[in-house]
Amino acid sequence: MTSSFTGRSFLKLLDFSRDEILYLIDLSAKFKALKRNGVLHRYLTGKNIVLIFEKTSTRTRCAFEVAASDLGMGSTYLAPGSSQLGNKESVADTARVLGSMYDGIEYRGFAQSIVDELAKYAECPVFNGLTDEFHPTQMIADMLTVQECFPEGFAGLKLAFFGDARNNVANSLMVVSAKLGIDYVACGPSERMPDESLVETCRAIAEQNGCTITLTDDVSEAATDANIIYTDIWLSMGEDESLWKARIDELCPYRVTSDIMEMTAADSIFMHCLPSFHNTDTAIGAKIAKEFGIDELEVTDEVFESTSSVVFQEAENRLHSIKAIMYATLSTEDPISNEEI
Ligand code: CP
Ligand code: NVA
Repeated sequence: MTSSFTGRSFLKLLDFSRDEILYLIDLSAKFKALKRNGVLHRYLTGKNIVLIFEKTSTRTRCAFEVAASDLGMGSTYLAPGSSQLGNKESVADTARVLGSMYDGIEYRGFAQSIVDELAKYAECPVFNGLTDEFHPTQMIADMLTVQECFPEGFAGLKLAFFGDARNNVANSLMVVSAKLGIDYVACGPSERMPDESLVETCRAIAEQNGCTITLTDDVSEAATDANIIYTDIWLSMGEDESLWKARIDELCPYRVTSDIMEMTAADSIFMHCLPSFHNTDTAIGAKIAKEFGIDELEVTDEVFESTSSVVFQEAENRLHSIKAIMYATLSTEDPISNEEI
């Protein structure tokens, strides 16, 4: 028996309905329970996935590899610059070759148009592991985390994103919030606000789901009564390092601090997709501290390490949600039942 997911690519959340997103979140929770209870779930034995990474990764790569292994699948990792893609072979040719050998293709890279083209030419589902525009697998993990922290439901929650509100993670949060009925606030300078056309699309979806999309440079307006405070690094992969100075100048007022957390609703949480520059324990963090005299970038170490911070729960949920996405799209069986948990 096939489900509405069977054979579909996972390129961006705009392609999925509210109910489909809710289904994936619930399926992720089921896979988390299976893993926690030590129940084997090798439901995709005999299938294979190829993981194309044109940018670096810790969480996404490891989540795909462990998810594939737990599901009984084989996986091949293609590191940045290690395949013919881009240099000697076109996206369309690569898609046709890999699509003939594998049951699924994961792609992390640059333009959204590349992952869209892979999906157009490959005869198997393609999963977007992050592009410059969207990071949709991250969103299923994030919303599983939100559901775990706020089991009473998504409707009526307020999520405020601080910082580079036009990056892939912020764009995706705006989409998923609109789909799930969460009031979304993008807080940052006007130059770092999302594209108008995406805002318009999301506002139309939000209206149907009884929630709002707000763009503001007012930190207090964004933080007041928020249930979820979210931030991401100020310079995304693929952006030129020479932009650090300008980005720091623009975004310092939007760093997530304890003062911001104090304005939020009771029991609010702090989220971050990671990696994060919350101290100087990284090569880039140390370099920035030396050049610009700043020890913490998008979030203070105090907030990152506070009891409100759910960032490592969020990171673990990448595994369970990627498993759900692969299972839903690659399986031809009935969805797993509660009895197995
Ligand atoms: N959040 C996330 O995608 O992390 P990686 O870059 O480590 O995959
Ligand atoms: N916006 C970040 C997300 C990393 C998971 C980047 O693209 O580098």
